[in-house]
Amino acid sequence: MTESIYIGRTILPQLQQVLQNLAFSKVAVLVDENTLHHCYPLVKSHLPEHDIIQINSGEEHKTLQTCEYIWQRMTELNLDRWSVLVNLGGGVIGDMGGFCAATFKRGMYFVQVPTTLLAQVDASVGGKTGIDFHGLKNHIGVYKEPHAVIIDPTFLNTLPQRQLKSGYAEIIKHWLIADATAFEEQRHIGLFTENWEALIRHSVGIKSAVVEEDPLEAGYRKVLNFGHTVGHAIESYLLEQPGRELLHGEAIAVGMLCEAFLSVKKDLLNRRELDQIETFMVSIYEKVKITEEDIQALSQLALQDKKNTRSTINCTLLQGIGKAVWDQPVTLAEIQESLRYYQLL
Ligand SMILES: NC(=O)c1ccc[n+]([C@@H]2O[C@H](COP(=O)([O-])OP(=O)(O)OC[C@H]3O[C@@H](n4cnc5c(N)ncnc54)[C@H](O)[C@@H]3O)[C@@H](O)[C@H]2O)c1
Ligand SMILES: [Zn+2]
Repeated sequence: MTESIYIGRTILPQLQQVLQNLAFSKVAVLVDENTLHHCYPLVKSHLPEHDIIQINSGEEHKTLQTCEYIWQRMTELNLDRWSVLVNLGGGVIGDMGGFCAATFKRGMYFVQVPTTLLAQVDASVGGKTGIDFHGLKNHIGVYKEPHAVIIDPTFLNTLPQRQLKSGYAEIIKHWLIADATAFEEQRHIGLFTENWEALIRHSVGIKSAVVEEDPLEAGYRKVLNFGHTVGHAIESYLLEQPGRELLHGEAIAVGMLCEAFLSVKKDLLNRRELDQIETFMVSIYEKVKITEEDIQALSQLALQDKKNTRSTINCTLLQGIGKAVWDQPVTLAEIQESLRYYQLL
């Protein structure tokens, strides 16, 4: 677990310090067109001399092809094992930049500077890096901790509302799996807060504590997968359907509702708790239309998910709000039932 997570609105100057401590050879900054425009101006003056590697934004570019381009640019720029890649962007930049850095010359330094809410509370913490492959989410990747994570909520000022809501889903997930009191408070307050810094700090605290206990996901870390078995299947499936793509957090929001339903079905969660979760989520997220045909196609994808064994699917469920249990076998038929239930909400 990285000891070096810095959070705050005056944190960017730390970047220089963090890099200086490394005795690095060269610095490159990975951006997409949006983070180049909105975020790079905020960090530029805090970086030593550097080159920029720019890729196209979007989950559809989190591919091996883009990695090839990044590795090629790193080679052209003569980066070596002692160079640093600064990943300035959302989870796509962080996951893919981390993966490219972890594998370039068997591993060079990298620093995460997450600029979306989702990346700040989730993707940048915990050392998972990777890319999508042939329509399968995060299918190729490695565990590799960044040298540091620099989280400045100021970046959120330019983030579209839809992206903000997507990241908020992971914050909700952290409450549901680990902090009933925070969920109880927040469900009365509603969607947004003036104080992102406090919310981010709290959420990063939950994620870091889980990761610290089980860095390689032997068991306990699987609590973080709540909402992700069904959510990933929906996300992957809709990614292949032009015009219907969901953001990661939007898919996870649907997944959390389905998996909360499954938790009730397994007598782990009570009906009142499910109602609370539903009321809160429905007030924030628009309903995603999923047809019976979609449910059939999705089921096939769910079976390929890496968390599965044979015909049952291991899922993380809620044992009451604030506590999660992992490796809970659910059948495909039950997953389908949960999706039908979601349609009726
Ligand atoms: N490694 C992990 O543990 C982990 C955890 C959760 C999610 N993820 C991954 O994260 C990815 C999703 O990340 P995301 O939601 O950040 O999406 P993203 O990286 O696609 O960023 C969303 C959009 O916002 C733009 N953007 C970024 N920062 C901005 C800013 N400050 N102002 C304006 N626009 C900005 C980006 O260019 C992009 O168009 C998924 O691939 C998911 O698998 C990884
Ligand atoms: Zn997630």
